[in-house]
Amino acid sequence: MATLIDGKAIAAKVRAGVRDGVLALVGSERGGGEPPGLAVVLVGVDPASQIYVRNKGKAAAEVGIKVFDHTLPETTTQAELMALVGRLNEDPRVDGILVQMPLPAHLDAKRVMRAINPWKDVDGFHPQNMGLLALGDPRFVACTPAGVMVLLEEVGCKLAGADAVVIGRSTTVGRPMALLLTAADATVTLCHSKTRDLAAVVGRADIVVAAIGRAELVKGAWIKPGAVVIDVGMNRPAAGAAGGKLCGDVEFAEAEKRASAITPVPGGVGPMTIALLLQNTLTSARRRSDRTR
Ligand code: GUN
Repeated sequence: MATLIDGKAIAAKVRAGVRDGVLALVGSERGGGEPPGLAVVLVGVDPASQIYVRNKGKAAAEVGIKVFDHTLPETTTQAELMALVGRLNEDPRVDGILVQMPLPAHLDAKRVMRAINPWKDVDGFHPQNMGLLALGDPRFVACTPAGVMVLLEEVGCKLAGADAVVIGRSTTVGRPMALLLTAADATVTLCHSKTRDLAAVVGRADIVVAAIGRAELVKGAWIKPGAVVIDVGMNRPAAGAAGGKLCGDVEFAEAEKRASAITPVPGGVGPMTIALLLQNTLTSARRRSDRTR
């Protein structure tokens, strides 16, 4: 039976480290005595986004980060949103800017992400930050894959020379995940919806990171005995189906019997995303004096 990777406990440890870092920064001259500032922008009324944003704001406040809340109506125009981003880019109190995705359909998310000052891009979604990661010289790394790397480290997973399989090539998780594992000297296969014989590829892997957003797509029987399984999926079945319970991309009950370590859903990767957002915001505040505007 696999060891359960306790993302809640590991995230709490990361958050405690950030809290200590915030205290040190506030007491130091370099930080100018100001706490790190995080602007959280939510457009519209998507219920899941509202919950995420609330949780991010709460977690930030708990570690001493100042939160600047910007909740905008569904009818916000592209020009209004771009103007807000422009003001936040210039605001010296703001070290990190997070525009919650997805945006309402009439807004161009790519343009918004590219407008964020790359030195305040605590999501790591700006092309400059993605490019730096691809070059092996990361500045801000997307929070979810960065959190997965912390989990792997915490369970003592040996990455150098390991066969790692990432399922899902999203720009927010799969692609940066593959780059991070490559930088850590794993041999990485990036799978996606067109991959032939996913079962065979997964069956060779020492490390499986599932981030494709399809409930229990990865069957437990595919997992190589002793592999480490990280499940990024958060699939909410339609009311009534599967008991309405949140489930991951991996068939947990079967995978748990074969893996050496596995993340639960919820309580695995989810809490790490927020913890790494706080970490990125602290890192940004520490770089204040380097920031170019
Ligand atoms: N929506 C879901 N996850 C994320 C995230 O990590 N960052 C942002 N900005 N939006 C999201």
